[in-house]
Amino acid sequence: MTSVGIDAMEIWTGKLVLDLPNTFAPVKGEDPEKYTKGLGLHTSSFPDVYEDIVTMGANAAKKLMDRKGLTPADIGRIDVATESAFDNSKPVSTYIAGCLEQVYDGDFRHANKGERKFACIAGTQSLDDAYNWIKAGRNRGRAALVIATDTALYERGDPGEATQGAGAVAMLIDEDPDLVELSTEQGYGSMDETDFLKPNQQFPSVDGKRSMQVYLARMREALEDYESVAGRTHPDLFEYIPFHTPFPGMVRKAALLGFRHMTRDTDIEDDLESEIGRQPREEDFETWDDYEEAIRGYMDELKTTEQYRDWYGRVIEPTLDISSRVGNWYTGSVHIARLSALKAAADEGKDMTGKQLLVGSYGSGAQAEIHAERVQETWLDEIEAVDVDDQLAARTEISFDDYELIHDVHNHEKEIEVEEFTQPEAEFVFTGWGRMNERRYEYVERSCVADC
Ligand code: HMG
Repeated sequence: MTSVGIDAMEIWTGKLVLDLPNTFAPVKGEDPEKYTKGLGLHTSSFPDVYEDIVTMGANAAKKLMDRKGLTPADIGRIDVATESAFDNSKPVSTYIAGCLEQVYDGDFRHANKGERKFACIAGTQSLDDAYNWIKAGRNRGRAALVIATDTALYERGDPGEATQGAGAVAMLIDEDPDLVELSTEQGYGSMDETDFLKPNQQFPSVDGKRSMQVYLARMREALEDYESVAGRTHPDLFEYIPFHTPFPGMVRKAALLGFRHMTRDTDIEDDLESEIGRQPREEDFETWDDYEEAIRGYMDELKTTEQYRDWYGRVIEPTLDISSRVGNWYTGSVHIARLSALKAAADEGKDMTGKQLLVGSYGSGAQAEIHAERVQETWLDEIEAVDVDDQLAARTEISFDDYELIHDVHNHEKEIEVEEFTQPEAEFVFTGWGRMNERRYEYVERSCVADC
């Protein structure tokens, strides 16, 4: 059977950076450690005045196409996953294709374009769509371009404001992939929930605390569903477990639950018995509340054990580095967690060929999905080609006053004129609105903001 998966990936971060503990927290009157230790966030990316979901997506896609030497004729499908769209009819993929057609010979006239919506999980759903399209033999030898792009902004003053971010991930899905092969087996946990939604509004209505419970519940169901087709999971099976990362503190909670689930009835539970006892079993309790309390007690002890801390440090912590520096990228978030892990492996000189990842995606509203990925022989070249650190280091730091301006610039309800903070160079930029209120874009070789 043909293997299908992610051949290559690239990112594009919003070009501005806000320091959360040192710039944001003091103005909010909060302890900086709430950010660094509690939420696990250090800095967030924001889009400059001329950036939006289209420019970031198109810029990431162009990096990918240039690096892989692709032309539009090589692409049979462009799917954009976003929850920051500004049009209820015309998909963002048409804008991105239009941008790319400005700089490449040929066009995407015979490529299928779409836009996927299911909160943050839409990025993974787009991967699935591409995977299925190729497996079904409908791709005519062409690859799919999947772009997850978001400006994850919250209403000013919303608790979610601390977790904002902006950026895009472009992924090439193809046969015989160079990076990771996706498993056929998948598990889902899906329920009608109102934890986070945007009913025809730009900024989300969020029940923050509940959203965390819903995330954990759906993720557990997805894991059980995955195991029903792929067999029992065990912590030793997976080199890394990238989760959807709205903020690293959320993943801390998901990882602990996952570890407890995976170690039940295993050698690890046996090893831990003398230290913290066996895991509580539901049948030993009269009420669900008693059982839950016992589970909470067990988990409080589990997280202090050497076994758990060692596993967390090896398998989870490396997935969080990029997120802690960029904030929530919504649809791109789980994909930068994968990138973060593989980048850490590359930095450590670890051989990842043939190793497995277990990927936990999530979208509010709500649905979780779990699948496995097998790392391919050529993974190192792919990962070393992505200039994550350079992009993050090149961001321009903004003050709190600048942050307020930039939030207003990207607020669809406001119309304000603000000078850009950075000079665009060799990238797509937003240039204004056309006669039908469409957004317009141009590729600029060099900035000419001041003198042209
Ligand atoms: P909050 O209420 O401001 O924060 O907002 P908090 O008071 O709960 O503090 C956060 C953590 O920091 C806590 O850790 C505190 O103890 C700790 P925990 O107890 O949970 O482990 N803390 C400190 N630690 C050290 N030193 C200190 C300190 N102070 C506090 N001094 C909340 C938190 C998540 C509610 C908020 O950020 C929010 O509403 N975020 C948006 C919603 C969200 O991200 N939900 C996550 C799950 S849903 C999801 O992932 C989907 C999503 O990506 C959207 C989509 O799918 O499209 C959001």
